[in-house]
Amino acid sequence: MELILEILNITKTFPGVTAVDNVSFDLMKGEIHCLVGENGAGKSTLIKILSGAIVPTSGVINIFGKKYNSLDPHTSMVLGIQAVYQESNLLENMNIAENIFYGLEKSNKLGFINFKETLNQAKEIMNLLNIKLDPRKLVSELSVAEKQLVKIIKILARNTKILIFDEPTASLNQNEIEDLLKLIIEIKNKGIGIIYISHRIKEVFEIADRITVLRDGKKINTHLIGKVTENELISEMVGRKTNLFYTKSNIMTGKVMLEVKDFILNKNKTPISFEVKEGEIFGIAGMVGAGRSELVKAIMGFNTALKGKVFLENKEIAINKPSDAIKNGICLVPEDRQTEGLFLIRSVKENITIAGLKKFKGIFVQRVKELRFVRELIDKLNIKTFSVEQIVGNLSGGNQQKVVLGKWLFTDAKIFIFDEPTRGIDVGAKQEIYKIIGEIASRGGAIIMISSDMPELISLCDRVLVLRNNEAAGLLKREEINEKNILKLAIG
Ligand SMILES: Nc1ncnc2c1ncn2[C@@H]1O[C@H](COP(=O)(O)OP(=O)(O)OP(=O)(O)O)[C@@H](O)[C@H]1O
Ligand SMILES: [Mg+2]
Repeated sequence: MELILEILNITKTFPGVTAVDNVSFDLMKGEIHCLVGENGAGKSTLIKILSGAIVPTSGVINIFGKKYNSLDPHTSMVLGIQAVYQESNLLENMNIAENIFYGLEKSNKLGFINFKETLNQAKEIMNLLNIKLDPRKLVSELSVAEKQLVKIIKILARNTKILIFDEPTASLNQNEIEDLLKLIIEIKNKGIGIIYISHRIKEVFEIADRITVLRDGKKINTHLIGKVTENELISEMVGRKTNLFYTKSNIMTGKVMLEVKDFILNKNKTPISFEVKEGEIFGIAGMVGAGRSELVKAIMGFNTALKGKVFLENKEIAINKPSDAIKNGICLVPEDRQTEGLFLIRSVKENITIAGLKKFKGIFVQRVKELRFVRELIDKLNIKTFSVEQIVGNLSGGNQQKVVLGKWLFTDAKIFIFDEPTRGIDVGAKQEIYKIIGEIASRGGAIIMISSDMPELISLCDRVLVLRNNEAAGLLKREEINEKNILKLAIG
């Protein structure tokens, strides 16, 4: 096997933290090398050093036999290093082929872009990768998963030798994940070296040739696939033995707390109604785009066009805007936490306390209580931050997620709606979040939880409502909740 990349003793320090601490790592041609570790372990920082976005404090990067002390985005690109980011950089009003070759278009003698040639080349590259999409389709008409495919093809159309994925499956459903993993293996077989970051251990075991574990910025180990078990890997990641699965303790569900009635998500669709009981964890499942987030946002008053009726302990309440819901003790922890849930330039403390401000107004004693609460939460959720005053934008992706969760757990709400509560969150912290959700249930709260994570739905929920195509496809009772039943209803 041919070594194409070698990172030697790389360190990156930020004020107060060593994000990457003397790490060495290498990559072969045609290999998938996975990087795993808890939130804040240093995975993204290491990747940003390779893409040239971050200059390391010390160490050497050896690429195709040439040594560098640091890279910049241009050099990195010229060397053939490309990363697939979550954000879309595609042009919505152009078709797939135009997007793939954007900036590389072949023009004919008169200077006009040769669309036919672009189209043929797009077809060729898509055939090669076994992707069945019509290259003439507009990007604006594509699903999240399809857009990601186009992003990948676009990258591959440019001299790519090292391809980096940082949690590419975060917003995909089960089928889409399978397709993406197949494609990644296809790309590897074409001789490209791949670095792959994910919190989903299952998927790591499915595609990795080697796995490297980072913890607190340090490299703990590199394993050949087949030479390590899931449990061993997780122990290395969290630095202790873990008890992997949390299940909801048997909390008796009580009277109906919340009744949601006649929410119509789209013209000509059947209205959706359901009720959630005291102490209940009520799951909402379905494919991406089935209307799950739309439904809970409508309940919260984000979209008044999609109005229905909401009853709280048998009394109808008027929700015309989100603050009406919050006043009534209903809160939503949104899916897109970075843009909807956080003040990125404010501190961790401010972000956590902002929702519960009333509780701690004014008095000095309250300040002390507030600080104690924030510290406790940081500790409980294992939020990696060197100080309560750290700017949230400087935390790792997963730790930002934890801050948003913490912020809402800080309120006195009775009804919590979680939209994908553990997306992007590491194994250890997931358990903590499940425990907290369980605690809310046991003190008489009611929980609505949207999730694409099957094990999570199966082990936590009392009932699961499955949505399909903006309608209710079925309601599963505790004993009926399993992967097969959920998928059957979700796909139809
Ligand atoms: N610009 C920055 N300023 C200060 N600290 C930073 C900055 N960028 C990252 N860090 C810190 O470096 C550490 C590593 O972060 P990194 O984003 O690499 O983690 P990660 O392994 O990708 O985690 P996640 O799984 O949550 O995405 C974290 O403690 C983070 O707060
Ligand atoms: Mg990261």
